[in-house]
Amino acid sequence: MSVLVTGGAGYIGSHMVLNLLDAGEEVVVLDALITGFQWLVDSRARFVAGNVADTELVARLIAEHDVRSVIHFAGSVVVPESVGNPLKYYANNTAATRTLIEACVAGGVEHFIFSSTAAVYGLVGGLEPVGEDVPLAPISPYGRSKLMSEWMLADVAAAHPLKFGVLRYFNVAGADPQLRSGQATAEATHLIKVAVQTALGLRPSMSVFGTDYPTPDGTCVRDYIHVSDLAAAHGVVLAHLRAGGESVTLNCGYGRGFSVDDVIAEVKAVTGVDFPVTRGDRRAGDPASIVAGAERIRAMGWVPAHDHLDEIVAAAHAWEQKLMVRNDIDRSR
Ligand code: UFG
Repeated sequence: MSVLVTGGAGYIGSHMVLNLLDAGEEVVVLDALITGFQWLVDSRARFVAGNVADTELVARLIAEHDVRSVIHFAGSVVVPESVGNPLKYYANNTAATRTLIEACVAGGVEHFIFSSTAAVYGLVGGLEPVGEDVPLAPISPYGRSKLMSEWMLADVAAAHPLKFGVLRYFNVAGADPQLRSGQATAEATHLIKVAVQTALGLRPSMSVFGTDYPTPDGTCVRDYIHVSDLAAAHGVVLAHLRAGGESVTLNCGYGRGFSVDDVIAEVKAVTGVDFPVTRGDRRAGDPASIVAGAERIRAMGWVPAHDHLDEIVAAAHAWEQKLMVRNDIDRSR
């Protein structure tokens, strides 16, 4: 019996693969390697290069590896890109997911865990944590493409013997504590990665996008969650579904926020580098604050092990240093 992880060569997917393997599971990874890297996939997993919308391939993998559970990470994740190229997002996040779900239903898959996003909430406003049951109002094609897949799953689960877990991720950061994986995308725009790269001299400076938000220090507030804790949350949901539990939709965050200025101060403290920071205009589409109401996932038995901003930053920093060594070796070849 195996777990199929789509997008298992990506940032979050590769940490999921580590979590499953460390728990003794058999794992099959399906990844088209468009944004993923095969070297991030632990060698204990079986790796297959391919697309989740390749129905024949997926059907074969389900049958050959006795797949009962699918964890679906594969997709496109860049919010501004989704505004310029919405059809790419509806193809990769909505249409491909539909085809994958169809193959799963046909193959008798019992559990389907889906990577969703806090982007389904849109501009919820206020500084209070947002619970799963607020009205959903995504403002980007990215958020809408994910929400359409959430709805599809709910409809399919009502009609077929498939149970789902929808996990809405907040701001994922950090790296595997053993540095077996981390965020490897070269042009990543995420705050902690950008700040760590600036501390390491890979960027000359960085900018704070907006200082006039209605937050305590005027910069945006986010709920940063360590990627290994996020992977562990999927493990909790998988165990719940395997035990016969009902389908669930869950926020994945810690339920507390840090501002952009908080994060930059932490990166300076952890790295010991006082790197240059400019204070710029707002970035289009950024909500002032988005913090997870996280009671539901905690009530299911999820106990985070890395809920410390300094630990998240230190892991991101250590990983970035590892990447620099790796890139130097690649360049010298
Ligand atoms: N920021 C800066 N400077 C930078 C980079 C980011 O000030 O160089 C700020 C952003 O403006 C934002 C905060 O840091 O206020 C966090 O930005 P990120 O780009 O790290 O993350 P986002 O909150 O924009 O995006 C995350 C996920 C998306 C998801 C979204 C939902 O990465 O996948 O939350 O709100 F859709």
